[in-house]
Amino acid sequence: MTRSIIWAIGGGKGGVGKSMFAANIAVGLAKFGKKVIVVDTDLGGANLHSYLGIKTPKVTIYDFFLRKASTLDELLMDTSVEGLKILPGSNEIVGMANPRYFTKLKFMRHIQRLQADYVLLDVGAGTSYNTLDLFAMADTGIVVTIPEKPAIESAYGFIKASIYRKLLTVFQKNLKLHDLIDQARNPVNEEGIRNVRELIQRANEISPESVAELESTIRAIDLRLVVNFVQNSHEEAIGPKMVKLVKRYLSISPEYVGSIPFSGKVRESLAKQTSLLMEDSEDEASAALVFAARKLTVPRKSEDDSTKKEPEKEDLTVPSVAESNSEK
Ligand SMILES: Nc1ncnc2c1ncn2[C@@H]1O[C@H](COP(=O)(O)OP(=O)(O)OP(=O)(O)O)[C@@H](O)[C@H]1O
Ligand SMILES: [Mg+2]
Repeated sequence: MTRSIIWAIGGGKGGVGKSMFAANIAVGLAKFGKKVIVVDTDLGGANLHSYLGIKTPKVTIYDFFLRKASTLDELLMDTSVEGLKILPGSNEIVGMANPRYFTKLKFMRHIQRLQADYVLLDVGAGTSYNTLDLFAMADTGIVVTIPEKPAIESAYGFIKASIYRKLLTVFQKNLKLHDLIDQARNPVNEEGIRNVRELIQRANEISPESVAELESTIRAIDLRLVVNFVQNSHEEAIGPKMVKLVKRYLSISPEYVGSIPFSGKVRESLAKQTSLLMEDSEDEASAALVFAARKLTVPRKSEDDSTKKEPEKEDLTVPSVAESNSEK
């Protein structure tokens, strides 16, 4: 049994186009001839099915949590696109948004068993542990933002929270390092650590034997960035600036996938319970989504070692605000 490639789509802020992007990319991949499963893991805010021609799902992941289904495979629904199936989410019960820890682990194990070329997870908004853990389990994390300051801050905060969550999980048995990472994720911490590079420097003092693993864990994080709702050249420039910002403070190099223009057609297609690429629409947003789907299938370029380099300056005015972003 080969393992499917898992992509997670997140971004911190609500309403920035995560589900729109997930649905269209899923359709795009299926049209390239890939077998695709898209999973609505937005526990409590599920609406991905609306982008894929399904009015009221007959089954949802809720059936898995209720143990009416013993595998997620049983809950997959076909779509009108060949090769594309959806596992719909559920809004049925408020408690769904917070499954218990072991239930979440079981759910994640079962996601890994899904058989397809690509499994796409729409993880929804926010930086709850459930969202971050689903995001962290993916081979590639795709962050969607829009070119507005609150969304950029949320996306930065989400990326930061996801990196620290990953490091805390990987080093949970290394008590000294775990404690240091836990402190460092707070913008104000006793150690005075201001960014990931300083975390590594401090780790080198207290647990030198773990630094190579710490650096390789950070290097292995495969993150991509998408800017949606773009309307002019100034907004076009925000994506690359944000990449520099993340490199500078978080020592990872996200790959910029590109921008998706604002398009009235997105809303029109949603009103018809469908998505742009299902309709073979030929506008700019569709072209950008096809381009993004293609680009995402290309393995990311081998990275320079951002964990060691003195980071470049950029001119996006977010770092001070973003650095004061606090996660629980
Ligand atoms: N490029 C775009 N042009 C125009 N409208 C868009 C675009 N992208 C998304 N929208 C619209 O914005 C709204 C929010 O999109 P979407 O539901 O994908 O956001 P989301 O990030 O998944 O939200 P949530 O956090 O609630 O899950 C929808 O009405 C969608 O049709
Ligand atoms: Mg959504």
